[in-house]
Order: sequence, then C-alpha cells, then structure tokens
Amino acid sequence: MSKSAIYPGSFDPFTLGHLDIVQRALKIFDKIYIAIGENRSKTNLFTPKERKLQIEEIFQDNPAITVVIFDDLLVDFARQVNVFTVIRGLRAVSDFEYEFLMASTNRAMEQEIESVFFMTSDRYSFLSSSIVKEVASKNTSYLSHFVTPNVEKALCGKFRLM
Ligand code: PNS
Repeated sequence: MSKSAIYPGSFDPFTLGHLDIVQRALKIFDKIYIAIGENRSKTNLFTPKERKLQIEEIFQDNPAITVVIFDDLLVDFARQVNVFTVIRGLRAVSDFEYEFLMASTNRAMEQEIESVFFMTSDRYSFLSSSIVKEVASKNTSYLSHFVTPNVEKALCGKFRLM
C-alpha cells in the first residue's frame, strides 16, 4: 500500500533543513506533497509562485514529490487530496510548543489528521528561513551553507547583491 504525506510550511525560502526533513521522510513515505501555505504571523520575501518554482526545481528528478500552494486551512487541503498524515520538522525543544498547538488545532478540526515529526540533522538545528533572509540581506557569500544553489541565486536576485 502506498503511503502519502503532506509536508506543509511557508518555505520562504526552502532551506537545507527542509531538504533534510524531506529526505528523511522519503524513507517512510512513497509520495510527499510539499504544501506551501500562509503563516499569517510572517511577512514573506518570495511569492508563493516563486517558492513553488524553486522547490519544484530542487525536486525535478524526484517523481515522489509534488509541490502545491494551498490557500485554505491545511485540514481542507488534506481532505481535498485525501491525505491525512502531516510531516513537520523539529529542530529543538523550542519548536515543540508551536508544533503542539498546530497539531492539536488541526486534529480538533479533522480527527483523521496525524502529525509525524522528524528530527532535523544536528547540522541544521539552528537553521530557519528567517535566519537565511537575515544573512542574505547583509551578505550573500555564506548562503551555500544554508540553501540549494537555485535558492541562493534567487536570494541574490532579491537583494540585488550579485
Ligand atoms: O513554516 P511555517 O511558517 O511554520 O508553516 C506554517 C503553516 C503554513 C504550515 C501553517 O501556518 C498553516 O498550516 N497555515 C494554513 C492555515 C491553517 O491551516 N492554520 C491552522 C493550523 S495552525
């Protein structure tokens, strides 16, 4: 039986930490929807369409990955694709409270939803899209430590530093 999951996030931008989570999840799931959603507490640098194209480029050779943008609640998207397993990454204990709130809220709205958490590699335990944007806004020389080459190029373009 094929096992599918949704990996939702803002992915503004998609980092090597996100890639690490997808690679771990692919050991367990056959198909993963990387679902770009809106986190209303964040201001975004890239449009959802730009993020979608960036992530699609990263996984262009991997048919197990489908990249989508969802505008509604995650639970509504889950019902739409009939996939009720949600993947999230955990970097440190500090992530737990937010993840607990999100998983519980999603389950309150849709009892079928199960959230599965993958621990990020130690190498990326500090890494976040916000940190990447902060670094990129000052100096783009270090971005290869944090993002894939296509995202690095997009960040350089946004900050016009190249
Ligand atoms: O990478 P992020 O910013 O932590 O991702 C958060 C995201 C986009 C997955 C979350 O905000 C979300 O699911 N937004 C869609 C709206 C929704 O369903 N909200 C209820 C769950 S908190």
